[in-house]
Amino acid sequence: MRIDILTLFPNMMSMFFEESILKRAQDKHLAEIHFHDLHDYSLTRYGSVDDYPYGGGAGMVMAVEPLVNCIEDLQKERTYDEVIYTAPDGEMLSQSMSNELSLKQNLMILCGHYKGIDERVREHFITKEISIGDYVLTGGELATAVICDTVIRLIPGVIGDEQSALSDSFQDGLVAPPEYTRPPEFRGWKVPDILLSGNHAKIEQWRYDQAIQRTKERRPELLKGNCE
Ligand code: ADE
Repeated sequence: MRIDILTLFPNMMSMFFEESILKRAQDKHLAEIHFHDLHDYSLTRYGSVDDYPYGGGAGMVMAVEPLVNCIEDLQKERTYDEVIYTAPDGEMLSQSMSNELSLKQNLMILCGHYKGIDERVREHFITKEISIGDYVLTGGELATAVICDTVIRLIPGVIGDEQSALSDSFQDGLVAPPEYTRPPEFRGWKVPDILLSGNHAKIEQWRYDQAIQRTKERRPELLKGNCE
């Protein structure tokens, strides 16, 4: 998968991709990340890409022409499965959305900033708008990092143990069961006997029961129409 990220802060962004699983995905050539500094597409001497909103009001708006020039430069090179814009009024990111995106070849993600972008870019170029939650971030960079993290870890081969991504919370509509590692007892706090029993069928059943119980307690809305 190739992801092109359009941002005003490529340095801030690149940090996220230089460690851990996101780095491993790139080292294995399973994911290719390219940053594009929107300042390079400025039409002014000062490198600005924003302007005052028509009609007045506080804040600045990212202008249509620099954004379109950058998007079209990239579209000349390849076809994109989605041109994504990160915005608080977008569709809420979910595990199923990440699953779908992880099957794509080429994604472009435009990180919003200021008050937003000129609506004409949304109308004519953006194919998907994603929010990562009902709160307002200073910019779309963190949202883009979250989207990329959830998507890239799902690409087959990125996580060594395939089971590990499949047994994540939300992957089956449930939150994950509790996990333990050594030692079997710490300050008198014991690991449940069943996990030490070696009986894999019983352990799987226990994990499933725990996942159901936890989901009921913590995220009951996930069970609606599922197990009720
Ligand atoms: N930009 C600002 N706030 C955001 C949010 N909650 N999700 C995605 N992009 C954003």
